[in-house]
Amino acid sequence: MSLLATKQKIKNQLSDHFDTIELNSLITMIIEHITGWNQVNQIIHKDEPFNTQQEQALETLIAQLQEGKPIQYITQKAWFMGETYGVNESVLIPRPETEELVEWIIDYATIKNTSLKILDIGTGSGCIAIALQKALPSCSISAIDISEAALNTAKINATALNTNIEWIQEDILQTAYLPENYDVIVSNPPYIPYKEKTDMQVQVKNFEPNIALFVTNEDPLIFYRTIARLGKQYLNPNGQLFFEMHYDQGKALLALFEEMGYHAEIKKDMFGKDRMLRASIKK
Ligand SMILES: C[S@@+](CC[C@H](N)C(=O)[O-])C[C@H]1O[C@@H](n2cnc3c(N)ncnc32)[C@H](O)[C@@H]1O
Repeated sequence: MSLLATKQKIKNQLSDHFDTIELNSLITMIIEHITGWNQVNQIIHKDEPFNTQQEQALETLIAQLQEGKPIQYITQKAWFMGETYGVNESVLIPRPETEELVEWIIDYATIKNTSLKILDIGTGSGCIAIALQKALPSCSISAIDISEAALNTAKINATALNTNIEWIQEDILQTAYLPENYDVIVSNPPYIPYKEKTDMQVQVKNFEPNIALFVTNEDPLIFYRTIARLGKQYLNPNGQLFFEMHYDQGKALLALFEEMGYHAEIKKDMFGKDRMLRASIKK
């Protein structure tokens, strides 16, 4: 079967699972993963047939996608701020809204125009820490995660992307200390209450690490409160906290930071949803 006919076959097999726009870019990724041909080469080779090995690889991949496995975990690649990151099921797949958080910090650091000490809490694939280091080479960046497997993935990404970051394995909910003082502490912490799990997409709830996503229904803001408490002790004068947040938690978070002695402001994402928060200690 030619590549062109194979593409049509994939479309038929996956049309119940993805919308048309998503499906077209997905098919290009699938073919690239199996053949190594980029979009241009896929046009050049459109009449070439798949060999038996490629046919088998394709069948396995289609079955995984039908079960809901994200393409990023199949190809073990995800894109963040124009770079490719290695991902696996021990790390969250980096999201576009997190790119907006990174851009907010880059803008802040650019205005400050001085080398900052930055700590990323809950680093996962390392995407925030690594993207900041690439954009702000004079800043020194440290990153914490509870998960050894996530930190191993982040370290591989940092090496592949020529960055130098200090990695720390720590349960942030169980420590009263941070290694140093920082000018910026950033976190995209787990913030989805478990009660929302049933309504979530299979791709997310069945494949992405629960430890990266969920918090208890009783205390969904636990990471924000813990980091705000640590910030009181470990932020340098004029230091800032930056967070990604659940679009629904803006009011509760503003109240929490106010009560803990911070000025806080919320920033909307490109879809107009409350998505990011920054806070500084009141003087
Ligand atoms: C929402 S993910 C964010 C990953 C990455 N920073 C990103 O934006 O794509 C949250 C991360 O926090 C880590 N984490 C969960 N509980 C933690 C804890 N108690 N202490 C430190 N890290 C924790 C998870 O392993 C996960 O990597």
